[in-house]
Amino acid sequence: MTTRRLGIGFIGTGNISSAYLRAITGHEAMAGFPVLDIKGLADMRPEASQARAAEFGLKAMGIDEMLGSSDIQLVVNLTIPRAHVEVGLKALAAGKHVYSEKPLGITYAEGRKLLDAANKAGLRIGSAPDTFLGGSHQQARAVVDSGALGQLVGGTGFFQCPGHEAWHPDPAFYYDIGGGPVLDMGPYYITDLVNLLGPVARVSAMASRLRNQRTVLSEPKKGQVIDVVVDTHATASLGFANGAIVQVAFSFDVPAHKHVPLELYGTEASLIVPDPNFFGGDVELRKRGKGEDWVKVPVTQPYADGNYRSLGVADMASGILDNRPHRANGDLALHVLEVMEAIAAASAQGRTIDIKTPVARPEPLATSLKDGRI
Ligand SMILES: NC(=O)c1ccc[n+]([C@@H]2O[C@H](COP(=O)([O-])OP(=O)(O)OC[C@H]3O[C@@H](n4cnc5c(N)ncnc54)[C@H](O)[C@@H]3O)[C@@H](O)[C@H]2O)c1
Repeated sequence: MTTRRLGIGFIGTGNISSAYLRAITGHEAMAGFPVLDIKGLADMRPEASQARAAEFGLKAMGIDEMLGSSDIQLVVNLTIPRAHVEVGLKALAAGKHVYSEKPLGITYAEGRKLLDAANKAGLRIGSAPDTFLGGSHQQARAVVDSGALGQLVGGTGFFQCPGHEAWHPDPAFYYDIGGGPVLDMGPYYITDLVNLLGPVARVSAMASRLRNQRTVLSEPKKGQVIDVVVDTHATASLGFANGAIVQVAFSFDVPAHKHVPLELYGTEASLIVPDPNFFGGDVELRKRGKGEDWVKVPVTQPYADGNYRSLGVADMASGILDNRPHRANGDLALHVLEVMEAIAAASAQGRTIDIKTPVARPEPLATSLKDGRI
């Protein structure tokens, strides 16, 4: 048993909260994250937090009670995108560190506001996604850092699906301001690309909205018509500061496709990086030259064998307790948000947009693991 623990509380106990709670409390084969001491769950719908609390044997509480609790040092904000910054600012004002689901905010300006407020208060911001900390993505990072790819040329990234109204119980937010495939799925891909390649320097893009309304296909809101106020199909070229150019596509309008999620190209080899929406998956390398073939890179890094959503929170809590930087941090999330906003702006304005927020690649996870785990 560890005594090194940070008190945390959750605000927002909808769909994704169960993945966090399962990973932290060690369901299935996962070891759990004992550094995270869950003191309570809150939601603007008390029935949602009460139900989740009962499911996991935890305590439901009001939002104000949570913010007033001296046992809680960090708030995990799992509300919908439009509420991320408002809820985050409240938690900062109450003296809590904040780890938010993605995107950090729905505009760069509000993300900046959150970071400025945290810096002023001497508190930390963390943000999903944390899948780039998964074993397979850290393995891919080790391949890139080894120089095996040679000079980095570029790559591709594809997230394309028919739309989340097929499965999400309450999908309207995906088509509202702050929704759309870029803000929803872009964080996984762009964060992983920054982890692998470093900062983005410039963006060009085109985006479209084919339908102004969509019909919910999933229960319990099946048949309800949703207004669509965001683009639902976007393609972009991301120019990285290291010279690599990566083409990406994010879409809620594609019935099916066969592109792999992420590929990187270097002058000496190409690398397949698994789906950045997950922690594990196959990493494959093919060296340049006749007779070479794709080979699987053995994944020896931890956290590749399960759904470890909350790994970024655990790394942040450990960072706070050990007084070291955490990886899924606000600067990284703000850089990614600026890139995503630039995709919309580049499309609307028909020009290439420069990215200004500086960002450092987070340290490989292995450098701060104790006993091989957080
Ligand atoms: N569902 C997924 O598979 C998934 C995966 C990864 C990330 N996410 C992200 O997680 C976040 C939440 O998604 P979800 O699918 O759990 O949504 P959801 O709608 O199922 O749950 C959101 C919860 O937040 C609560 N809430 C909303 N505004 C609030 C406020 N101002 N104060 C307090 N509570 C508030 C709602 O009552 C609801 O219970 C989103 O940012 C989403 O992008 C979702």
